Amino acid sequence: TPPKLLIFAGSTRLASFNRKLAHAAAALARAAGAEVTHIELANFDIPMYNADLEAKGTPADVMKLKQILFEHPAWIICSPEYNGSYTALLKNTIDWVSSPVKGDPAWQEGFKSFSGKVVGILSASPGALGGLRSQSHLAPLLLNAQCWVAPRAFALGHAGDAFDAEGRLINDKHRSNVQAVIDQVLSASRRLND
Ligand code: FNR
Repeated sequence: TPPKLLIFAGSTRLASFNRKLAHAAAALARAAGAEVTHIELANFDIPMYNADLEAKGTPADVMKLKQILFEHPAWIICSPEYNGSYTALLKNTIDWVSSPVKGDPAWQEGFKSFSGKVVGILSASPGALGGLRSQSHLAPLLLNAQCWVAPRAFALGHAGDAFDAEGRLINDKHRSNVQAVIDQVLSASRRLND
C-alpha cells in the first residue's frame, strides 16, 4: 500500500508562499508514490483556544482535524515565519488538537493525533533565511507532542521569485531539497510503522 502523507501550510493567505510550497511538495510526493492529502487550515472553523469555550464542547472542526491528523502516519508542515517564529494559526490549531476532549474516552490522550507521526518541516519566506527560524521553534513543539521530526528540513528564501505562474518551483536545487525531505519522511514513516 502507498504511504499516506498529509500536507498543510500554516498560513491562510490567498497568495501564501507556504501554500504554494505545500502544493509543490504534494506533487513531488505523489510522483514518489505517496497517497497525499493536502488540507487547508482555512477550511476548518477553529476559534482562538479558550478553555471556557472548550468546556461547552470541542468544536466539530477540531474533531474533524484530530481525526485527519490521526489517520496520517506522516506529515509535511509548511511553516511561515512571523517575528522569528511560526504562526499563531499553527500554534492555535495545535493547541486545540492536542487538548483531551472532555467526556470523550476515545480522545483522552491529548497527543493521540501526534504520537509517533513522522513530520517533515518546510518553510518559505520572502526573506533570505526562508523562515528557518520558524522551524527552530516548531520542531521542539512537535517533539514535545510525541512526533518524530525529520532531521532533514528545507527553508525556501526569496520565495517571491521561486515559483512559476503555475505554482511550480523554478529552481532544480529547490525541488531536490524538497524531495530530500519528502524521501526522508516517507522512508522513516515506512520503517517506524512496519
Ligand atoms: C512577517 N514576515 C517575516 N518573514 C521572515 O522571514 N521573518 C520574520 O520574522 C517575519 N516576521 C513577520 C511578522 C509578521 C507579523 C508578518 C505579518 C510577516 C514576512 C512573512 O514571511 C511573509 O508575510 C510571508 O509571505 C508569510 O507566509 P505566507 O503567508 O506567504 O505563506
